[in-house]
Amino acid sequence: MQDWDPDLYRQFEAERTRPAHDLLAHIPATVIPQRISDLGCGPGNSTQLLRQRFPDAQLVGIDTSRAMLLSAQQRLPDCTFLEADISQWQPTEPQDLIYANASLQWLTDHQQLFPYLFSQLAANGILAVQMPDNLDEPSHRAMREVAENGPWQQTLQEAGVARAKVLTANQYYDLLAPHAEHVDIWRTTYYHPMPSAQAIVDWLRATGLRPFLEPLSESMRLDFLQDYLTIIDAAYPQQVDGRRLLAFPRLFIVARARK
Ligand SMILES: C[S@@+](CC[C@H](N)C(=O)[O-])C[C@H]1O[C@@H](n2cnc3c(N)ncnc32)[C@H](O)[C@@H]1O
Repeated sequence: MQDWDPDLYRQFEAERTRPAHDLLAHIPATVIPQRISDLGCGPGNSTQLLRQRFPDAQLVGIDTSRAMLLSAQQRLPDCTFLEADISQWQPTEPQDLIYANASLQWLTDHQQLFPYLFSQLAANGILAVQMPDNLDEPSHRAMREVAENGPWQQTLQEAGVARAKVLTANQYYDLLAPHAEHVDIWRTTYYHPMPSAQAIVDWLRATGLRPFLEPLSESMRLDFLQDYLTIIDAAYPQQVDGRRLLAFPRLFIVARARK
C-alpha cells in the first residue's frame, strides 16, 4: 500500500485532534503513567497531547507509516517513535497507558486484539481508545456506491474490507470487563462545519478513501473522485452560511486494568 500523506492528514488537524483531547480528558487526574505507548501515532498530534499532559513519562509512538513517523519525529524530537505493526507489537515492559486515537479501526479481529492489548498493561494501567464509527455515514456509503458503479468495479472489490466495522459497545465491554477494574464506553457524534463539499472529499482522501484510490490509475482516480464529489455534494447540503456539516460518530473506550 502507498504510504500515508502526513500533509494531507494535517489539513484538518484541529478537527482530527479534538477527539484525542476528549479521550485524554477521560483519564483521571490522579493517573500519572510512567510508560506510555501511542499506537498509530500518525504525525504525532496525539503524541504531543500526551507529552503535554505527562511531561515526565517514557513515551513511545508506534506506526507502520514511515512518512507519518518522520513527521512525528520532526514535531517531537525528544520522543521515541518506532516502526511497528500494532498487531505484532509487544512492549518490552508492561505499559501504564496504552493510547490509540483513530488507529485501531485499521486493524481487523478486535475480538483478539483488544484482550491482547489489555494484557500488555501493568496493574492499574489504562487502555484508552477512540475509533471512528462512521462506516454507515453518507461519506462511507458513497465510497462503496462509487466503487460498485464504475469501470473500477472489479479492481475495488476488496477495497471495503480494509477497515473492519467496529464492534458494538456491548461486545467491547464483554471483551474487557473480565480483566478490568472499570470499563467506560461512550459514543459522540461531532458535527464539523466544512467550507465545501470538496473539503469533505479532501478530508476523506487522507483517510477512509485511501483503500479505494490506491489500486486505481491516476486518471481513474480523478474519475472516481469526481463521482464521489457529486454524491457528497447532494448528501451534505449547504447550511444557512453555505457550509456543510460533516457528521462524524466516534466510539470511545477507557478501561482500567485490575490492581
Ligand atoms: C488516522 S491516523 C491517526 C493519527 C493520530 N493518532 C491522531 O490522533 O490523529 C491512523 C494512523 O494509524 C496508523 N496505522 C494503521 N494501521 C496500523 C497498524 N497496523 N500498525 C501501526 N500503525 C497503524 C496509520 O499509519 C496512521 O498513521
